[in-house]
Amino acid sequence: MSTTPFNLSQVNELIRSRRTIKPEDFVQPVQVIDQSIIENLIENANWAPTHGMNEPWRFKIFAGESRQKLGDFLASWYKKNITGDSFNPAKHQKILTRPSFASHVIAICMERKANTKIPEIEDIEAVACAMQNLHLTASAYGLGGYWSSGGATYTDDMKEALGLGANDRCLGFFYLGYPKEGAYEKMNQAILLKRTDWQGKVEWI
Ligand SMILES: Cc1cc2nc3c(=O)[nH]c(=O)nc-3n(C[C@H](O)[C@H](O)[C@H](O)COP(=O)(O)O)c2cc1C
Repeated sequence: MSTTPFNLSQVNELIRSRRTIKPEDFVQPVQVIDQSIIENLIENANWAPTHGMNEPWRFKIFAGESRQKLGDFLASWYKKNITGDSFNPAKHQKILTRPSFASHVIAICMERKANTKIPEIEDIEAVACAMQNLHLTASAYGLGGYWSSGGATYTDDMKEALGLGANDRCLGFFYLGYPKEGAYEKMNQAILLKRTDWQGKVEWI
């Protein structure tokens, strides 16, 4: 019988049961995640593959009072830029309050090295790999996580607010918190209806 270096059934279970859990489904009042756990999430993110050892991932972590400052910024950006019939008061309210429903919110950033020969898309890909490491690790701790984009994410306003360089990028925000009871089960059931089989995405050559 062949052996594997890791418990594959646990690895499979972790990967397949990782779910997006939104802040509305985090336990309230907020249960703050230990600093040591947050540091372990980042440690694992830091082990992502990276072409040319660029290690382009950068994380700006909002905790405590800074979460509401983030909500204020995102909501005021929405109010200023989404006008007329497109403005949705309920969405505005959601954007404003969401960060405070989370224990931590991480601005997912990519920093470009000066004069790197690595194409930008590969640095973006590396950051996405880092986030998958982080999200899987969060799931292993029983935490909920949600990658949010849209709105101000890809704008120069966001770059400026986060203090990013001209060639850097914000790729989104990752919300972390303890899920309400039943949140994982609810999302797992929902995704089973949506996610299609891998067989249709492979061409055997
Ligand atoms: C780069 C990226 C950006 C995302 N942005 C959003 C977003 O703005 N809003 C949202 O509802 N979900 C967003 N998601 C999460 C997806 O909706 C989610 O991964 C998808 O529904 C599959 O669910 P699962 O993560 O539970 O497998 C994003 C995911 C990725 C990878």
